Amino acid sequence: MISLVLASNNQHKVTEIRKILPKSFDLVSLKDAGITSELPENKGTIFGNASQKAGFVWEATGIECLADDSGLEIDALEGRPGVDSAHYSGFPISADRNMELVLSQLKGQKNRKASFVTVLALIQEGVCHHFEGRVFGTITEEKRGENGFGYDPIFIPDGQPLTFAEMDEKMKNEISHRALALGKLKAFFDLKEGS
Ligand code: IMP
Repeated sequence: MISLVLASNNQHKVTEIRKILPKSFDLVSLKDAGITSELPENKGTIFGNASQKAGFVWEATGIECLADDSGLEIDALEGRPGVDSAHYSGFPISADRNMELVLSQLKGQKNRKASFVTVLALIQEGVCHHFEGRVFGTITEEKRGENGFGYDPIFIPDGQPLTFAEMDEKMKNEISHRALALGKLKAFFDLKEGS
């Protein structure tokens, strides 16, 4: 068995990742790895933060580690909210306020192109590997749909009539940025298993 710490306290992510890892992996929670403090996330980019979290856990535990970071990048806002997606409108965190802020910043804006991005950072044998998933789309004029979380009600992926929040979980999970990044991670493991 190869132990791998998942640098997240989000049980949904743990379950999603457990499903795609080869059986030879034993996924260890942060708590079981003895990490109770907040993970550092101050690199200023999604890529930097994913790498920083994985590196922190690796140095603290010596156990191989997988970390992720995601966000929404809007072209007309020069990539914002990006790394600040979770707390774009300040604290306490509010998805509704974040969406209101984005919609007000895009008022009258014709270019509504945006993308969701996830970066996974995997430290194996001391080497950091990165897997990026990105889904392109547009920002709506107003919120639509009740499902999902975060910015889902204002994001329509390209080629779809629905926002992420109007899709059921299965449909979103087939095309999301997270699914694309996890697909690349799975291909990496499949390649290793086959070699
Ligand atoms: P995290 O790094 O996965 O925690 O994502 C950071 C923030 O990006 C979240 O708090 C959301 O605001 C936003 N975000 C990331 N993924 C999604 C998504 O699939 N739908 C909507 N918002 C998302």
